[in-house]
Amino acid sequence: MAPRVVFLSPTYPPEMRQFTRGLAEVGAEVLGVGDGRPDAELRRYLTDYLQVPSIMQEDDVIARVHAWLRGRQVDQVQANWEPLVITAAKLRERFGLPGMSVDTVRGFRDKQLMKERVAAAGLRVPRSQRAHTAADVWKAIEHTGFPAIVKPISGAGSADTYKVGSAEELTQVLSRMQHVTEASVEEFIDGEEYTYDAVCIDGVPAYENVTRYLPNALEMRSQEWVSPVMLSVRDLSQPHITGGIELGHGVLRALGMGDGMVHMEWFRKADGEVVFGEIACRPGGACIVDQINYTSDIDIFREWARVATWRSFEAPRERKYNVGVIFKRALGHGTITNIVGLRDYLARYGAHVVEDNLLRPGTPRRDWKSTLLSDGYLVVRHPDWDTAKEISFAAATDIKMYAS
Ligand SMILES: Nc1ncnc2c1ncn2[C@@H]1O[C@H](COP(=O)(O)OP(=O)(O)OP(=O)(O)O)[C@@H](O)[C@H]1O
Ligand SMILES: [Mg+2]
Repeated sequence: MAPRVVFLSPTYPPEMRQFTRGLAEVGAEVLGVGDGRPDAELRRYLTDYLQVPSIMQEDDVIARVHAWLRGRQVDQVQANWEPLVITAAKLRERFGLPGMSVDTVRGFRDKQLMKERVAAAGLRVPRSQRAHTAADVWKAIEHTGFPAIVKPISGAGSADTYKVGSAEELTQVLSRMQHVTEASVEEFIDGEEYTYDAVCIDGVPAYENVTRYLPNALEMRSQEWVSPVMLSVRDLSQPHITGGIELGHGVLRALGMGDGMVHMEWFRKADGEVVFGEIACRPGGACIVDQINYTSDIDIFREWARVATWRSFEAPRERKYNVGVIFKRALGHGTITNIVGLRDYLARYGAHVVEDNLLRPGTPRRDWKSTLLSDGYLVVRHPDWDTAKEISFAAATDIKMYAS
């Protein structure tokens, strides 16, 4: 019998369509739940769809799904979008289905709890404390010292995440963070920043990826003039990288990972020390999954689905390329008017460009603060790291976009 999978929010974010396709392609019956309206193509992958008023209203969603499924047998509840991973776990518990419990998923969602659980396993995390009030933050700073990071306990997209170097800066930041009810105050880790991504079966990685952020994610997200680069690392066996992968394995065990994908962030300090950043029990956003697919020429959307439903991973693990994603931000406000340097860039490196998603003249600019996709991006790849980096940096510096 085809496994019956409840999949939350198949319409949003856009890549959820691909995970829905994956589920259908491995033979699952997909019961979608969301507040969007699936188009005809997405409908083809869905056996049924429950439209709810707001997918973020957790209690309401749980009550509606419960009523909708009455009398029907389901095998799984899955969510690949960060704000819904707890909702999925609550539904699993409600229906008595296998999969990660609410408590386990909290370890991937609450940034203080995750660090406590990871530290308890003897792994290196930034010194940190939970804070509910401005007074708590000042107290935590005594423990972490300056510079420190202040960020929401369940944040995403680096929203409301600040590096503070002094008491004056902290005073300013606190006034901007008044709407945040719970924060994590952390020792600032000065180092290179990487991801560790994995597709897991019972917490054991079946496929792994590491991507370097250039510059670090917080700088990408706070400085508009930067063209952020994310470069997947083809050779995972190099000493520079293996420490982060071992940390990833330890973290998966410490947090009790089950089946599915994880996206972890970690730092490598100049002295070689490897430090945990954060982890989520869902795929990375901002093109990470596409990057994995281009790294190994596989379809990780479908392989995630195979793992989630059949607990098996069948794609080749060979890593063929370092894959760079370069995000661009136009100079000026309003509508894109001009792209300079793209023709020369393509003449030089076109053979290594696998996607050109730069917004074209006439298109309104995107809000770079709310989406890393910014005013579009290029995807490039090359088997040699230094060459892949050169091609990526050339796109960052030699292509300029303008708006007015
Ligand atoms: N303790 C720290 N030391 C140094 N940098 C940090 C620290 N904590 C966070 N950062 C920086 O801030 C960024 C955002 O923090 P974090 O990843 O915890 O938040 P997030 O909002 O979940 O991010 P995203 O959703 O973009 O992954 C990190 O990727 C890193 O660049
Ligand atoms: Mg993060």
